[in-house]
Amino acid sequence: MSAVLSGPILIDTATDSDALDVVDMYRRVLSEDRWFMTYEDEFTGTETWQAKVIREWNSESNSRFLVARLQRTIVGAMSITGGNKDRTKHVGLIEIFVDQTARGQGVGRSLMEAGILWAEQNPILHKLALHVFEDNTRAVDMYRRLGFEVEGRLVGEFQDRDGTFRNDLVMAFDCSRPSLNAG
Ligand SMILES: CC(C)(COP(=O)(O)OP(=O)(O)OC[C@H]1O[C@@H](n2cnc3c(N)ncnc32)[C@H](O)[C@@H]1OP(=O)(O)O)[C@@H](O)C(=O)NCCC(=O)NCCS
Repeated sequence: MSAVLSGPILIDTATDSDALDVVDMYRRVLSEDRWFMTYEDEFTGTETWQAKVIREWNSESNSRFLVARLQRTIVGAMSITGGNKDRTKHVGLIEIFVDQTARGQGVGRSLMEAGILWAEQNPILHKLALHVFEDNTRAVDMYRRLGFEVEGRLVGEFQDRDGTFRNDLVMAFDCSRPSLNAG
């Protein structure tokens, strides 16, 4: 996708038919070489793999895969991956990305708000967590404004191919149901 799209942002639960658009978009975001721990040439995901992930996430009661559309084109995706063990099933790990051409017009915030609302209504999840490079200030600021707090800072956790060490922030959000927060 190269044209800049605008208009109303629609957030949907992803389906199999979104897999190719999502995996292509993820590859484009990885090719920016800055936001995720995986380099584009390390990424082996295919449309079939992505469709399987979407199906599995949306059939798990504590996981969700959402997409954002502008003018019917997929411009962003967000996953909440719930833990698969008794001791971890209350935590949903978030991953989010928006196509470069659609950034700065509310797509990321809309995806996050939809995911948070879904998590708050989910009876299993109590906590949303994410990892973000400390120097990804746009993302860190967005998470803070949505109510996420820094729980940890892993110094030099990643090393870029040019040798630069980068810090990893662990951020989290309490999405417990209000009734469970009382007392
Ligand atoms: C981080 C990301 C998901 C944000 O999505 P987005 O659609 O660009 O964000 P939005 O337009 O919804 O803006 C979110 C906030 O950032 C602010 N913002 C927008 N463009 C900005 C910019 N260029 N610089 C700084 N802040 C900016 C907005 O004002 C908004 O603030 P608000 O929360 O007070 O409303 C997106 O930039 C992205 O996919 N980046 C690359 C991948 C990535 O970093 N993923 C997260 C890894 S942890």
